Order: sequence, then C-alpha cells, then structure tokens
Amino acid sequence: MKGIILAGGAGTRLHPLTKVVSKQLLPVYDKPMIYYPLSVLMLAGIREILIISTPHDLPNFRQLFGDGSKLGLSFSYAEQPSPDGLAQAFMIGKDFIGNDNVCLVLGDNIFYGAGLKNLLDRSVKIVTEEGKAVVFGYYVDDPERYGVAEVDKKGNVISIEEKPKNPKSNFAVVGLYFYPNSVIGVAKSVVPSDRGELEITSVNEDYLKKSLLKLQTLSRGFAWLDTGTHEAMSEATEFVKAVEKRTSLKIACIEEISYLMKLISKEQLEHLIFEHGKSAYGDYLKKVLSQ
Ligand code: TTP
Repeated sequence: MKGIILAGGAGTRLHPLTKVVSKQLLPVYDKPMIYYPLSVLMLAGIREILIISTPHDLPNFRQLFGDGSKLGLSFSYAEQPSPDGLAQAFMIGKDFIGNDNVCLVLGDNIFYGAGLKNLLDRSVKIVTEEGKAVVFGYYVDDPERYGVAEVDKKGNVISIEEKPKNPKSNFAVVGLYFYPNSVIGVAKSVVPSDRGELEITSVNEDYLKKSLLKLQTLSRGFAWLDTGTHEAMSEATEFVKAVEKRTSLKIACIEEISYLMKLISKEQLEHLIFEHGKSAYGDYLKKVLSQ
C-alpha cells in the first residue's frame, strides 16, 4: 500500500499565518502539523509516501524530509498547481501509485486515540482482501461543514453528501481514506462540482454505488482534530500539550515511531537526536533511546 499526504490548498482561513508559510508546516505544539498525518501513514505500515503541495511550498517539505531515508521511509514529491480538489491527488499521484492500493491523508488532520493502529491495520486488510474503500466517520456538532455520511443500523453507508445544508447525520467523513487501485480510474471520471473542485465525496459516492464503501466510526475516546482555523489550531496545540504532559509520551513523534517499528537502527536514532540539538524534542528522543 502506498500513501499520499495532500498538503497544498490555499489556507485562506488561516491568513495572515499562511501568507508565506504552508499551513501544514505551522506548529501544532512541538512539531510541524504534517508530522501528525505522516505518523498515521507510518502506523498503517506504509513506507512509500508521496507529498503533494503547491509549487511554492513543495521545496520546504523536501527540505524537511529529504528522501525519507533518515526515517527508514521513501518520500516522493509532486506539485498541485492550484487547489482543484482532493480527488486530484490520485491523478497527480497516478505513476507513484502504480498498481498498488493507496491511502490518502490530509496534511492538516490530526488523529489520536488508543487502538488507532488496530483500526488502521483493519482498514488495510479490508482494502487488500475485500477490494473495498474505507472511510471514517466522526460525530460532530456541525456536520454541514463536512462531507456527511448517513449509515444504517449495521454501519453500512446509505448516502454521502458534501457540505449539505440539511445533514442527514452527524457523522463527518474525516480526512483519511483507503482505496483499492481502481481509485485512479474513478478519480479520472470525476467532474468538477458547483464550487469547481474535484470532490473526494464524488469518489466515495462511486464506491458507494458499487457497494464497495465501508465506513468505520471513530468511537468515543478518539480525538479527530481539524486545524483549518485559528481557533482550531489553538485548540489542537492545547490538546497535544495536555495529552503529552499527562502521559509523558509524545503524539506523532515520527522518529520514535520509526525506531519502535524497527525502520531505523539505534545509530540512526542517535544521529537524529544529534540533529535535534538541545530541544526538549531531542531530550525526549534520548529517553526513547535509553529505554
Ligand atoms: P481545505 O481545508 O478544504 O482547504 P485549505 O487548506 O486550502 O483551507 P482554506 O479553506 O482556509 O482556504 O483543505 C483540506 C486539506 O487538503 C488541507 O490540508 C489542504 C489540502 N488541499 C489540497 O492540498 N489541495 C486541494 O485541492 C484542496 C481542496 C485541499
């Protein structure tokens, strides 16, 4: 399975923060925002990752991650000249995906909760063994802001609508999607919506029509944080800070994940610690190494 992080977009709701710097490089407490979705792909067992961003911002991501080998990963990069919609990721990433299945995660989505790895492993299995697409629903108070999934009592998706005026449920479809390889063809057939975007909801509707769409709900105790506004950014920072302080563990510490998943050696981790200098982040990695 390949992974794509979509880290472009205009970030207009975060102006003036995003006038020069990409939203996904802004800090969420102690690390750049993109570390959070990257950690999700890593926990799903994905090693080959494509980062898609604007021509202006892409060089910064390259500088941050390079070819990924320091983390035991392989990174590729591709430009999205303008924010024409999430479904465009599969056209831009066509050659990168090749004949594999693919997971798409939005560069500004944060997931946290016990059992996340199990949930991800299960999703990879559903795509691989059943050939179905998997999306995730999260209970929200303001579903009209999101793609909304209506589900029956057994959890089957009945309908899926993009930013509906009259939402049929409170389940927002979050920015993490697993697809079989057929998504390349499906995305190609999507036509722009009224707002001029190639909607991921159209892709999901296609799988729904073929009875090939599975929705997993993120249960109580799971946190899904979207960071599109100043308020949401600040809340995400406070959340991460509080959890990290109480648990003495970091959320989305990609170097730690690499080490624990045996993608890098002790010597490689030592080198990363050296690179992090005197920061508290570096100190945390020293603790990981000593345990
Ligand atoms: P949005 O939050 O829909 O858009 P945005 O980030 O540009 O923000 P704003 O509404 O403030 O202008 O995007 C969700 C995520 O997907 C975010 O990480 C940006 C990314 N994205 C792309 O990379 N390309 C796209 O074409 C779109 C629509 C979004």
